[in-house]
Amino acid sequence: MANPVWNTLKDLAYGGDYNPEQWPEETWHEDVALMREAGVNLVSVGIFSWANLQYGPNEWHFDWLDRVLDLLHQHDIFVLLATATASPPPWLTKLHPEILPVTAENIRLSPGGRQHYCPSSPYYRAASKTLVEQLAKRYGNHPAVVGWHVGNEYGCHVPRCYCDESAQDFRRWLKLRYRSLEELNQAWSTAFWSQRYQDWDEILPPRVAPTFVNPSQQLDFLRFSSDALLECFKREVEVLRRITPDKPVTTNFMGLFKPLDYFRWAAEEDFVSHDSYPDPADADSPVAAALTFDFMRSARHGQPWLLMEQAPSAVNWRPHNVPKADGQYRLWSYQAIARGANGVMNFQWRASRGGAEKFHSGMVPHAGKDTRIFRNVAQLGRELKHLSDVLDSQLSAEVALVMDWSSWWALELDSHPSSRLSLTDQLLRVYRILWRKNISVDIVEPSSDLSRYKVMVAPNLYLVSQPAAENLARYVEGGGELVMGYFSSVVDEHDVVFPNGAPGPLADILGIRVEEFWPLADGLTVDVHGMNGFRSTADIWSELINLKGAERWAAFASGPLNGHPAITRNLYGHGRAWYVATHLHIDGLDTLLTHILHTVGVNPLLINAPEMVEATVRRGPHSQHLFLLNHSANEAHVQLDSTWRGSSKIVDGRIGDDSVYLSPFGVAVFSKTD
Ligand code: GLA
Repeated sequence: MANPVWNTLKDLAYGGDYNPEQWPEETWHEDVALMREAGVNLVSVGIFSWANLQYGPNEWHFDWLDRVLDLLHQHDIFVLLATATASPPPWLTKLHPEILPVTAENIRLSPGGRQHYCPSSPYYRAASKTLVEQLAKRYGNHPAVVGWHVGNEYGCHVPRCYCDESAQDFRRWLKLRYRSLEELNQAWSTAFWSQRYQDWDEILPPRVAPTFVNPSQQLDFLRFSSDALLECFKREVEVLRRITPDKPVTTNFMGLFKPLDYFRWAAEEDFVSHDSYPDPADADSPVAAALTFDFMRSARHGQPWLLMEQAPSAVNWRPHNVPKADGQYRLWSYQAIARGANGVMNFQWRASRGGAEKFHSGMVPHAGKDTRIFRNVAQLGRELKHLSDVLDSQLSAEVALVMDWSSWWALELDSHPSSRLSLTDQLLRVYRILWRKNISVDIVEPSSDLSRYKVMVAPNLYLVSQPAAENLARYVEGGGELVMGYFSSVVDEHDVVFPNGAPGPLADILGIRVEEFWPLADGLTVDVHGMNGFRSTADIWSELINLKGAERWAAFASGPLNGHPAITRNLYGHGRAWYVATHLHIDGLDTLLTHILHTVGVNPLLINAPEMVEATVRRGPHSQHLFLLNHSANEAHVQLDSTWRGSSKIVDGRIGDDSVYLSPFGVAVFSKTD
């Protein structure tokens, strides 16, 4: 979709959160001058300004914001205007203390931080609606405003509320999901432990109880809680679309944030935006960041997204906050663009002097503009002006990683065969292997259109709905290659084990039956031997499997399941479905995936790429752009394939005959027209 933000900017977006309410007006003038110097063209304004905009139910103070927006406009700086609803003002929570959220332990949280609201609170919803209406009417046609930044990091501090109002709302939500109480009793297996409900009013959020709370109830509450916050977002969006239909809306995501089903959320936005805070002290940070960037791109099916926040250097909220090394700010900014972002923004423009975030870096540090940070900021701002050609280009992928929020939630509930299974660990293990090979990956839901992918990897899909099972079957039948990890397809959408156990509706596709889950004793490592000389070890998890049509591609060669299948492969329709019944050592998983990718003709982007060099291609209607990113502190040497010879260099990189030299944490971008 043509996005009015990029159409207006005509450049990659560059800027950050701008909080002028924290500064005297003289500083605003210095701000806009420095923004120009730094190449800033977009700022998010007023995210936490509710208390400065509204002093009481009918007391509004817009004059300062009028002046800020006019000033930004005079300097050609565009604005994503915040709806300012993320932190209710003290007068509001004094007037309606019911707004304050309650924990599962029945503790009502106090104001004093931020995000202290119950998503189901009618008072919060009404007050935020009024505020958004005022802002939309007053600023919807302001020439600086190119879009709306709705709320802020929904659920970051309070993903769920357990108060009585939330209990009511949960019941309303359940009544829409289940036609009758009888159906709910069935779905939740309430015959177990004497939990049968006779009246909707008996149903409560899963508050702290003597032991494990009903898992189906927990799962539905997780779904409800994501929806309750989404409802807050949608109510604001409804106002904005009514009053300013031509201004796109977004809200900032936080990577693979477990409490919110971002696939559902992304569908309600005009474009996705994301806040990324990898730890500079962790050498593995770029891999996890890349995974989240690929998710942001995939969440709206390849559409360009916006890196809404990152830190110019250190954050303040880890126990120990290491600054970004020279080059890392630039490198990580390019990494987002390389993976489909059409802009790079920061938290925040000017480092605060007071408040809880005064030690968080800003684009303008306390020490002012003659600083390493501001020089880095301004250098990137200048460079990005050369990249406007990438605006209408996108990435494409032949491989997809499958994930599903309901399955994630259910997988990590309590009272399971093992508490050692984490979805993000499983995703990252597979992703890391693909990242090192520079194989582009989309992150998709099991029920989405899978037809364009040569390989689908579902590292874990514990919960499988009927539509998802049918979709996966269609995919394999039509010639797809599905690789499914252990403890998958165990339960239905209510977290109830399938009749005859795993893999339930995928039994025919996978050609196996799981007889028994077999978590491995701590410290036990078993051998796995397979076809083509495959050798690996495995730990943590195994399963006793019966073959029902699949072939045994590898078997356990030691341990309690010695001789039983460990990896199976089944022909189904025109495709093949693999099942990996154990937690392979990463090298074994790499060998297996390499074999599968090779068989279906998915190839790495670079020949012999050094380990920490990341490469992607963005393709536009008339041109292609190659991004090379060196995540190591040493110089790297990258061999270019013949198709890139003769392309023009946009950014950096020393070119030899057929190779590129990247400086430590260096970046190179090449473009060629088709
Ligand atoms: C989040 C929030 C910002 C700020 C930063 C600090 O991204 O959206 O308001 O608190 O964290 O890193």
